[in-house]
Amino acid sequence: MKRRIFVSIALTAFVSAALCGAVVWAALKVNMLILAALIPVSFGIFAAAKALTRRISANVRNIRDELTRRQQELQKEHEDQDRMRQEFTANVSHELKTPLTSISGFAEIIKNGLVKQEDISRFAGNIYDETQRLILLVGDIMKLSQLDEDAVPAQKELIDLYETSAAVISQLKSTAGKRGVTFTLEGEHVSVVGVEQIVDEIIYNLCDNAIKYNKENGFVTVRVYGSENGNVVSVSDTGIGIPPEDVDRIFQRFYRVNKSHSKDIGGTGLGLSIVKHGAAYHDAEIKVESKLGVGTRISIVFPAV
Ligand SMILES: Nc1ncnc2c1ncn2[C@@H]1O[C@H](COP(=O)(O)OP(=O)(O)O)[C@@H](O)[C@H]1O
Ligand SMILES: [Mg+2]
Repeated sequence: MKRRIFVSIALTAFVSAALCGAVVWAALKVNMLILAALIPVSFGIFAAAKALTRRISANVRNIRDELTRRQQELQKEHEDQDRMRQEFTANVSHELKTPLTSISGFAEIIKNGLVKQEDISRFAGNIYDETQRLILLVGDIMKLSQLDEDAVPAQKELIDLYETSAAVISQLKSTAGKRGVTFTLEGEHVSVVGVEQIVDEIIYNLCDNAIKYNKENGFVTVRVYGSENGNVVSVSDTGIGIPPEDVDRIFQRFYRVNKSHSKDIGGTGLGLSIVKHGAAYHDAEIKVESKLGVGTRISIVFPAV
C-alpha cells in the first residue's frame, strides 16, 4: 500500500515537473520568437517615427515661413496705406489751400476798398467760382472717404444700368451742349445689384470726363449690354485720348495727365478714384482702351445678376 502511494506521488511529481518544464520551455521559445520578431518591428517603428518627425518639422518650418511672409506682406500693405494716406492728406491740404488763398485775396482787396464799383461783380464772380470748386472738392473727398471706410449708407438693390445711364445723360445734356458734344445711349436694359448712388456716380464721372476731354463737336456713346463676363456699361468718346504710360495712373487720387489745363477744364482730380472705388465696391472690373488723339472707351463690367 505504502509503495503504491509512493509510486503515485513520484509519478505525479514527475508528470508535474515534466509539464512545468514543457510550459517553461514553450514560454521561453515563444518569448524568443516574440523578441526576434520585435527587433525588426521596433526598428521599423523607430524609422517611421523618425520620418514622421522629419515631415512634421518640415511642415512646421513651411507654416512658419508662410506666416513670416504673410506678416511681411501685411506690414508692407500697412506701410503703403500709411504712405498713401499721408500723400492724400498733403494733396488735400494743397488743393484746399489754393482756392481758399484766392478767396481770401479777393475778399481782402474788396475789404480794403481797392476795387472799383464796376469791378466788384467780377471779383464776386471769382469768389463764387472758387467756392464752387471747394464745394465740389469737399463733396468728392467725402464720397471717397465713405467708400474707403465702407460706410456707404444705402442698401444694395436691383439697378437698371440703362435707366441710370439715361438719367446721367439728361443731367449732363446742357454741359455737353455747350461744347457741341452729342450724346448717344445704346444697348439694352440689363440690371446689376448695387447702390444706386454709387453706380450713378461711376457713370456720371465717366460721362463728365468724356465731355471734358472731348474735342469741340465730338461724340460720346454710352452702351449698356450683357456679355458672358457680366453686365457692362461703356462710355466712349472721340476726344484727346490718354497717353499709354498714363493709363494706369489716371485712377490715382489727384492724378491728371495735363496739370496745367486742369484749372480751366475744371474737376477735382478725384473722379476716376471714385469710379475705381465704386467699381471695387460692386466687384466690377474696369477696362480702359484709349488712343491718343482718337478717343477713349472706359467699360465697367459688373457681375451678372
Ligand atoms: N475720357 C478721357 N479722355 C482723356 N483723358 C481722360 C479721360 N478721362 C480721364 N482722363 C484723364 O484722367 C485724369 C483723371 O480724371 P479724373 O479723376 O476724373 O479727374 P478730373 O477729371 O477732375 O481731372 C484727367 O485729368 C484726365 O487727364
Ligand atoms: Mg473727372
